[in-house]
Amino acid sequence: MPDLVVAGNWKMNTTVSEAAALAAAVRDGAAAAPGVENVELVLCPPFVSLAAVSDAVKGSAVKVGAQNMHFQESGAFTGEVSPGMLRGLCDYVILGHSERRQLFGETDESVNNKVKAAQAAGLKPILCVGESLEQREQGKASDVISGQVRAGLEGVNDASGLIVAYEPVWAIGTGQAATPETAAEIMGGAIFETLRSLFSAAADNVPLLYGGSMNGGNAGEFAAQDCIHGGLVGGAALHADQFLQVAAAVAAAKV
Ligand code: PGA
Repeated sequence: MPDLVVAGNWKMNTTVSEAAALAAAVRDGAAAAPGVENVELVLCPPFVSLAAVSDAVKGSAVKVGAQNMHFQESGAFTGEVSPGMLRGLCDYVILGHSERRQLFGETDESVNNKVKAAQAAGLKPILCVGESLEQREQGKASDVISGQVRAGLEGVNDASGLIVAYEPVWAIGTGQAATPETAAEIMGGAIFETLRSLFSAAADNVPLLYGGSMNGGNAGEFAAQDCIHGGLVGGAALHADQFLQVAAAVAAAKV
């Protein structure tokens, strides 16, 4: 089975001091929560808080991730952050989140460039894919998802360190999570089959995370599905206790 991973996507929330306090609360709570030691916890604050969060979790098992990055190493890209700047501050990077795709014009091609750059820099990419409500209603969900996975991983030869998050756009921030069965149909189907066709048996070790209104109450049902190995958590990740409830539920479901 792949590693269990619960990542918190803090999005554009928390000041530096709030981020440090939240990270410290997760660090302390994780040490006291049974089973959570079996789950890789990844905190993804805004760029400006990466250093503070990384300091706060130093010496603990809690890991840090960025929410995005540019694929070039340096240059005239005002406002952007490069892979080399993240190295040393964090181990993971979320790439291709639907908010980046929808609000900031990211394409499969730019996401693919970022995945390759992340791996080259020794960062572990959390590649996000997800269909819109319209695409689902048109019966295109599986095709859209296989297309996003294939395009996002074009030219990627090594599946080690890779994580794929399935986040249906209609489930993000809406309180309307997918059912575990709907998620499993896509994750064990389109996503896993595409990974298998790209990486053969190495695909079996890629953690697949569900994201979209995941919380302590529903996380266990998702993780009870064989093809789901954790979650990418937004709103609930802004509260240490709720985030740890998700991690505890994932751990308990996989015992
Ligand atoms: P949500 O966000 O848990 O608030 O729905 C998940 C995400 O966008 O990663």
